[in-house]
Amino acid sequence: MRFRKDKEREISRVFRSTDEARITYNRMSRFYDVLAGAGEKRLVQVGVQKLNVSEGEIVLEIGFGTGNCIVDFARSVGSSGKVFGIDISEGMKSRAEQKVKKASLTERVELTCGDALSLPYKAEFFDAVFSSFTLELFDTPEIPQVLLECNRVLSENGRICIVSMSRKGKIGLMVNVYEWLHRKFPRSVDCRPIYVEDAVRDAGFTIMDTTAATMWGLPAEIVLAGKQV
Ligand SMILES: C[S@@+](CC[C@H](N)C(=O)[O-])C[C@H]1O[C@@H](n2cnc3c(N)ncnc32)[C@H](O)[C@@H]1O
Repeated sequence: MRFRKDKEREISRVFRSTDEARITYNRMSRFYDVLAGAGEKRLVQVGVQKLNVSEGEIVLEIGFGTGNCIVDFARSVGSSGKVFGIDISEGMKSRAEQKVKKASLTERVELTCGDALSLPYKAEFFDAVFSSFTLELFDTPEIPQVLLECNRVLSENGRICIVSMSRKGKIGLMVNVYEWLHRKFPRSVDCRPIYVEDAVRDAGFTIMDTTAATMWGLPAEIVLAGKQV
């Protein structure tokens, strides 16, 4: 019985390499804003609101994509705060930089090309960490590693918000179809639903709030958590 329960909770593995992810997202960067539908953007905005960044804060976004949230955060932190971002794709970085420049926010933003598995920031540096539709791109053993890195770089009272496709609850048709596509086309469908709240908790965070949502019938979780109780 326990074995069956464990099987039911198994999430698909991700076998493409980080270099393959970089190539895919470099290619997608030019039209990513069109590809990411309104449903996805709506959930990202719920996450941004939950994180509730305020003036003077130092914020990190992991997998910032074309930089829409980087611009939002840079506006919220004001001239006394700072926003950092890390993304594996040079194409995404250059798109995001264009947006930041257009919004005249360059002074408040520092974007880096790199792998979130090993964050190039010192411990307890950030007030808040944000990531949307990126954690589910990492292979199963890498998910705790990314979250532990987030924990390391967050200040004592820091908070994290993760927006991600979710496997929580009853596994419905859409999850089954998506997981099938992920197995069949591991390079183009390189993400899959994960247990978001559990992963965040297992990395030592205290869950503050979880919202369950859906996009195109697929479940998602928006999890806000704190480093300290
Ligand atoms: C699905 S997109 C989401 C972009 C953005 N957060 C959004 O919600 O629109 C995933 C992003 O994660 C980045 N990414 C993929 N693997 C990464 C890694 N190992 N480290 C850092 N970023 C990564 C990709 O380049 C891409 O920009």
